[in-house]
Amino acid sequence: MEKSLYLSPFEHESDLAAELTFKKLTILEQQGRVFLVEGMRNDIVWAQSSWLDVQEIAITSIGDAAKKLKALGRNWALYSTGHHRRAELIQEQLPHYPVKLIPFLHPRPSAPMGGWTLWDTDLIYASAKTSSQYPLGEMSFLEDQVNPPSRAYLKLWEFFTCHSPRLPRADEHLLDMGACPGGWTWVLQSFGGNVTAVDKAPLEPRIAQLPNVTVREESAFGMNPADLQKVDWFFSDIICYPARLLELVKKWEKHGVRNFVCTLKFQAETDHETTERFVKELGGRVIHQHHNKHEVTWFRVED
Ligand SMILES: C[S@@+](CC[C@H](N)C(=O)[O-])C[C@H]1O[C@@H](n2cnc3c(N)ncnc32)[C@H](O)[C@@H]1O
Repeated sequence: MEKSLYLSPFEHESDLAAELTFKKLTILEQQGRVFLVEGMRNDIVWAQSSWLDVQEIAITSIGDAAKKLKALGRNWALYSTGHHRRAELIQEQLPHYPVKLIPFLHPRPSAPMGGWTLWDTDLIYASAKTSSQYPLGEMSFLEDQVNPPSRAYLKLWEFFTCHSPRLPRADEHLLDMGACPGGWTWVLQSFGGNVTAVDKAPLEPRIAQLPNVTVREESAFGMNPADLQKVDWFFSDIICYPARLLELVKKWEKHGVRNFVCTLKFQAETDHETTERFVKELGGRVIHQHHNKHEVTWFRVED
């Protein structure tokens, strides 16, 4: 049977292990944050980088390793699990690629990004085309240190820069649920459309006063969709149980909303079952973004 390899986000090894088991993949071995698995799936949420076409490469020397990797692809990110010095010496012989801070909406890299790990002194696991265009699925923004009122804005920056099939248009109405203090609202109003920001707590005044922002200080769960002008995009960063959010999303979907971007937040236990229900019952995809913590992002966006 074919093998695949998944790299968990920092300190989320147990979430990845639980998801792999939940999705009926057999974990053969773990080294550091990397899991070698029997079988493969392209929908592993808690993998920041998935290596589906993983190759097992026997090597005889550092030069031999570099030559074999170069024959497979150009860009190689190393995840070092052991034999660190030997791995570094191999990496030094591979072509360099620049790692820069990324501006918001910077075009996504078009070249495939490979990943490799020195599993044993003379054994490499490598994939010339990993699931992320960024090295090991890691990316950092050239941040705006002045304007956003919270760091939550980075989740939407990442979503629109790396994952969304399109951006909101200026003629669209965007609903931002759980908006306080206003990081997401600040990002959303930059697209030019009207934003309705909903939270029981007040937004930061300078965000609430932005020209195309309307604030509703109430619970998102008590709102009647019929009371609002047609909503084109539904965003949620509400702290609540994922199962409750699922019901809320269904209510707005029935009312004709086509585009959704929602954070599913977990308490002590990660709820893999409800995470899967979002995709099974509503379509779209779930990802763990680099800027997500103990939470994942479900989205469904029409092109
Ligand atoms: C993580 S914060 C949102 C941060 C925000 N997205 C930003 O970028 O600044 C979660 C928010 O959910 C709000 N929240 C919790 N329960 C809510 C409810 N029933 N209705 C509306 N907002 C709620 C909280 O008041 C809190 O402000």
